[in-house]
Amino acid sequence: MPQSKIAGIGMYVPEHIVTNNDLKKYMETSDEWIEERTGIKERRYAHRTNETTTTMAVEAATIAIERAGITPQDIDFIIFATLSPDYYFPGCGVLVQRAMKMKEIGALDIRNQCSGFVYALSVADQFIKTGMYKNILVVGSEKHSFGLDFTTRGRNVSVIFGDGAGAVVLQPTTQEGQGILNTHLHSDGESAEILAMYNPGTHANHWTTNKVADFDEAEIGQMFMSKDMIDHDQNFPFMDGPAVFKKAIVKFPEVIMEALQASGFTHADLNLLIPHQANLRIAQFVQQKLQLRNDQVYNNIQQYGNTTAASIPIALCEAWQMGKIKEGDLVCLAAFGSGFTWASALIRW
Ligand code: ACO
Repeated sequence: MPQSKIAGIGMYVPEHIVTNNDLKKYMETSDEWIEERTGIKERRYAHRTNETTTTMAVEAATIAIERAGITPQDIDFIIFATLSPDYYFPGCGVLVQRAMKMKEIGALDIRNQCSGFVYALSVADQFIKTGMYKNILVVGSEKHSFGLDFTTRGRNVSVIFGDGAGAVVLQPTTQEGQGILNTHLHSDGESAEILAMYNPGTHANHWTTNKVADFDEAEIGQMFMSKDMIDHDQNFPFMDGPAVFKKAIVKFPEVIMEALQASGFTHADLNLLIPHQANLRIAQFVQQKLQLRNDQVYNNIQQYGNTTAASIPIALCEAWQMGKIKEGDLVCLAAFGSGFTWASALIRW
């Protein structure tokens, strides 16, 4: 059975840099508060009208496809991870297919937030192993800047996130021990509402009384996204930061150890850990817990903020471009996020 390998990788971040001090124009915050709690110094925001989640994905995918030595017409499946799609539906996968003039291939969108890219990679890995596809484009892309609460009320969430995209092309390899060695996916829906954007959605909490069974005609169109919701600013993400922190520092090390142990390795064998760039404090805690040296972990949240599904492919691409990943290296990707969901992928580069 073939294994899958990353044959090409690309990233794109918008030109516009927004520093912590820039955010002071909109909310009460400070460079010190943000950097001390999250490690973030700056992030990128996409152009308001000219750049979307899909256009950034196309930029990253173009580089990944070129580096894989193929053309967009060779791609036989697309998997797109994002929580900030261009449209509520259809998903961004088909928009990439159209923009890159690909054949009438399948396009799948994945909604697993911060774990989205690792989930997507795992799905792609299964398709390669079974021989169904030979060139899968896996993308993570986010345009967060379009939908954050930039007032003081939303500052605990809005200062964390940034925009960008990363992409890989997955291909089969028959070289023994090369490529994706294992992937592990997990979820625990008990805390689904702790890190979530509730609207637009079909949940029943739109109603203070149980009107669902007998709503009148005038209310029908308002159930999905009502004026009332917008008036009460219920269209922004919610996060219980301390609760996320507590769970993340347990599940990150667990899922990394699960990956290493499944292939008979220990933390000492790891050349590079690329954790989802949630928060530098979380990454540092994980590094300490696993007793990893500084050169065994790559973080770039300082420059880009948290780009959710894009954070791992951006960090992976940047680390590779900087020569921090060489052929034969053991690389672990690990993610934790809303759901909660968490996941890992162990790769022999
Ligand atoms: N600037 C200034 N003050 C702020 C800001 C801000 N941007 N945000 C919150 N505060 C204030 C609060 O209003 C509060 O003030 P008060 O004490 O007067 O009420 C005080 O700072 C502490 O607020 P907390 O929300 O308790 O802040 P905390 O110290 O927990 O830090 C943070 C928030 C950084 C989010 C932290 O909880 C954390 O690191 N959580 C982990 C979650 C995370 O990193 N999520 C990333 C996205 S999810 C993911 O990728 C998995």
